[in-house]
Amino acid sequence: MRVVICDTVDQATARVADVIAQQVAKVPHSVLGLATGGTMEPLYDDLRKSHVAGLSFAGVTAFNLDEYVGLPADHPQSYATYMRKHLFDHIDIDLEHCFIPSGMGDPIVASRTYEAQIAEHGPIDLQLLGLGKNGHIGFNEPGSSLASLTREKVLSQDTLTANRRFFADDETMPSSAITMGIQTICNSKKIVLLALGQAKAKAVQAMIEGPVSAFCPASALQMHANTTVVVDAEAAALLEYSDHYIHAERLQRRREQ
Ligand code: F6R
Repeated sequence: MRVVICDTVDQATARVADVIAQQVAKVPHSVLGLATGGTMEPLYDDLRKSHVAGLSFAGVTAFNLDEYVGLPADHPQSYATYMRKHLFDHIDIDLEHCFIPSGMGDPIVASRTYEAQIAEHGPIDLQLLGLGKNGHIGFNEPGSSLASLTREKVLSQDTLTANRRFFADDETMPSSAITMGIQTICNSKKIVLLALGQAKAKAVQAMIEGPVSAFCPASALQMHANTTVVVDAEAAALLEYSDHYIHAERLQRRREQ
């Protein structure tokens, strides 16, 4: 696991956006794994700017991590809508090549179909991840099997509380989601995880320095051969071995001296 600590949220976000842009520039037919959530919104803004500056996504295939059970793709709070709003409608990606698990119908069938689609078009070259305050990746909540494949997961109280902000007061929030499993995620060739802010500091410490354990699903990434974790100073605040990691801007300043 390569750990990169940036001074600010903007620098961390720009760094991860750049990893994705470089992947697409180098391999135009890349298979990307994509995430949703508040952390990713400014990152997708950056990718939209890269597209305006000339980067084409026309050859890219995209697989999203998860979708709420019970929400049709055109629901305002579905992750399918999120992806169109924040990225897909603003770049030249072929929507036929954008896969998101179906939140409708039988979740077992939807999960199997998704694994089959990943097997057909994959492997995923670069998987983008956020991090839940409780250490989840995708919606693999604490207690998830580290060998899990795509399946329905009941959302934890932490996640229900954290994501309530995206739903209107009178709206019922789904209580489960279809999510890529931890093994599905770890089958990706490369992984880049972005975690920002003080609220993520405890989960960041557990993911990087804690034991590999279902208590912190993201800790499974310690066993992945090509994972980069990018955090800002606040998210890195509880790291015990902070000096052992790459401090991006500090390194840059030293090089310039
Ligand atoms: C989203 C996802 C989640 C989020 C995580 C962080 O597709 O799979 O794991 O990445 O909950 O969300 P934010 O960025 O809103 O804190």
